Amino acid sequence: MTATDLEFSQHPSANPKSDQERTEILADPGFGNHFTDHTVVVDFTADTTGAGGWGNARLEAYGPIALDPAAAVLHYGQEIFEGMKAYRHEDGSVWTFRADQNAARLNRSAARLALPQLPENIFLESLRQLVTADQNWIPTREGESLYLRPFMIATEAFLGVRPAREVSFRVIASPAGNYFGGELAPVDIWVSRNYARAGRGGTGNAKCGGNYAASLAAQLEAEAQGCKQVLFLDQFNDNAVEELGGMNVFFVFKDGSLVTPALSGTILEGVTRSSVIQLGKDRGLTVTERKITLDEWRDGVASGDITEVFACGTAAVITPIGQLKDGSEVIGAPDSKAGPVTMSIREQLLGIQTGTSPDTHGWLTRL
Ligand code: COI
Repeated sequence: MTATDLEFSQHPSANPKSDQERTEILADPGFGNHFTDHTVVVDFTADTTGAGGWGNARLEAYGPIALDPAAAVLHYGQEIFEGMKAYRHEDGSVWTFRADQNAARLNRSAARLALPQLPENIFLESLRQLVTADQNWIPTREGESLYLRPFMIATEAFLGVRPAREVSFRVIASPAGNYFGGELAPVDIWVSRNYARAGRGGTGNAKCGGNYAASLAAQLEAEAQGCKQVLFLDQFNDNAVEELGGMNVFFVFKDGSLVTPALSGTILEGVTRSSVIQLGKDRGLTVTERKITLDEWRDGVASGDITEVFACGTAAVITPIGQLKDGSEVIGAPDSKAGPVTMSIREQLLGIQTGTSPDTHGWLTRL
């Protein structure tokens, strides 16, 4: 054992869902609606100097969290999370995708939100403990998986504004189908002109709950316009495209090249984003991370230079984008279909994740 290894005590649920209930849920899981029987918890305690350690690692029944009403997370939003998935392969083995990247990003987010660093082996063992206990919750139809939600919250009861000295790391799991519901289809996007997602020096590149809370007013506008997601721009930088409410964006050009907005500090560095960049390069495509403006999107679609646009993220996988609505202006055709490049990269990515395409980069970890 290393200094960061922990024993996980086992407190299995006395009341797991029945086989029938689970089967019914797995028949149509949707996204984020249902949760498995267990959760993993690891606690952190620090002294007044901030020095501390992780302990009391446990697997326990999924259920409400007892929190002091003064817990810092409830007042100052000191919280971060990750999105990951577990996949069952044909031989019955269970794998996760690029877990090291999620562990590293969690720690980058932790640094930004003044939360403690979590050793990668505790992160990985937490996933393993939960997925082992709840492995009969993994759906296996095309595009389905067990969505894993690791998160860290400030639990200390203290109202002064300083980093909490008591923190919990937890993982929950949720069987997942298409993030947008139903069969995969192009999603329409609404351009947010009234709200920004992030600003320079802010928390845009951290995966913290506040970023998503701040996207909701814009998301409501989008839904009122019949759109499934909202696009955020950097209005102080020529309306450069940033990201959608919960996913990154890619453009396919007619010469076959791929372009995605460069990481500017205000964009989340998606694990799917970096995987698409790599898969594009593996195919010999030119993949560029650069500034791309709303004007270039509009003009590129009009001239035929931009042939496909897609969203990507752990939850969204790769989802084609249909129309972009900017006030009364509409960019793109109403009956747009998923493009061939989008679908081919999606199939390859899902193939790697589910074990039907070669994992040439060693992205899978067995749980
Ligand atoms: C994910 O893709 O895992 C996310 O955390 C984004 C959220 C919209 C579900």
